Amino acid sequence: MAKKLTTCKGLNCLITGASSGIGRLLALAVAKDGARMALVARREDELNTLKKEIEEAGGEAMVFTCDVSVLDDVKQTCEQVSRDFGQVDMLINNAGYGHHRTFLEWDIEDQERMMRVNYFGMMYFTKLLLPQMVERKNGWVIFVASVAGKLATPEESAYAASKFATVGLAEALSIEVEDDGVHVLTVCPGAINTPFFDEEALRRMPPVAKNNMADPDKLVAAIMKALRKGKHEVTYPYGIAAGYIVRALAPGFMRKQVRRVTLDAINK
Ligand SMILES: NC(=O)c1ccc[n+]([C@@H]2O[C@H](COP(=O)([O-])OP(=O)(O)OC[C@H]3O[C@@H](n4cnc5c(N)ncnc54)[C@H](OP(=O)(O)O)[C@@H]3O)[C@@H](O)[C@H]2O)c1
Repeated sequence: MAKKLTTCKGLNCLITGASSGIGRLLALAVAKDGARMALVARREDELNTLKKEIEEAGGEAMVFTCDVSVLDDVKQTCEQVSRDFGQVDMLINNAGYGHHRTFLEWDIEDQERMMRVNYFGMMYFTKLLLPQMVERKNGWVIFVASVAGKLATPEESAYAASKFATVGLAEALSIEVEDDGVHVLTVCPGAINTPFFDEEALRRMPPVAKNNMADPDKLVAAIMKALRKGKHEVTYPYGIAAGYIVRALAPGFMRKQVRRVTLDAINK
């Protein structure tokens, strides 16, 4: 049976990547719905500003600085959270970064780093916080993956690899822990208007993505709606999910379309 989130009231939520963009807005939404928040990222000032904002709105939040790609850092953060904040009922794995560059230009060090931040960071937090949820037979784990974890496009190889890995982990886990009362949601955003895109990315992004960036508030509303409905996966903007069906049924056709709107459009 689908586990539907009726309210965040009474829940303790840890969210990574809370200092900016999607994580910041999602933290505000979950706090507004009643959860106590553990805010995680590397930039302490940004996290403190968010904490203040949550508190001014009548909520409660604590700040934990952590580089999610470093296992010892994540272990230390989870110990500190357990000691100072308490049990975690909801884990939102959101921290991540991307680039738009060809595989040939992409150095090995950054490709490894991207996997550590985008995939291993999420796996570390889940590995450390899931057992207590299973023990209590109650919990929520949300993975902010990407459409790039379902459909790979040129100039995003390392990013797509990290997000395909995340989708794989989340999908398998969602079935494994369902009977333990833990609900897993995979979120696959398309292009969302946040500081995620640096100058290089904006320069090289396919026009179809650059000119149609979605509002992050609308993505956050879609995530909250998916949790309320007990969904295991949500893609936003919703229409992009049609691409998954086209790819499965007509991969050759899809490949041509992807090439047309990405590589060919960039190099025009
Ligand atoms: N924007 C999009 O179009 C889009 C589309 C699909 C998926 N996503 C995914 O959505 C998530 C959030 O992205 P966003 O758009 O909100 O980007 P953003 O505004 O750049 O935020 C990224 C967040 O991740 C944190 N972060 C990055 N590296 C970290 C590290 N090593 N340790 C701890 N925290 C780290 C950053 O915090 P600090 O710098 O303070 O550490 C920041 O809070 C990412 O996983 C991204 O892949 C975004």
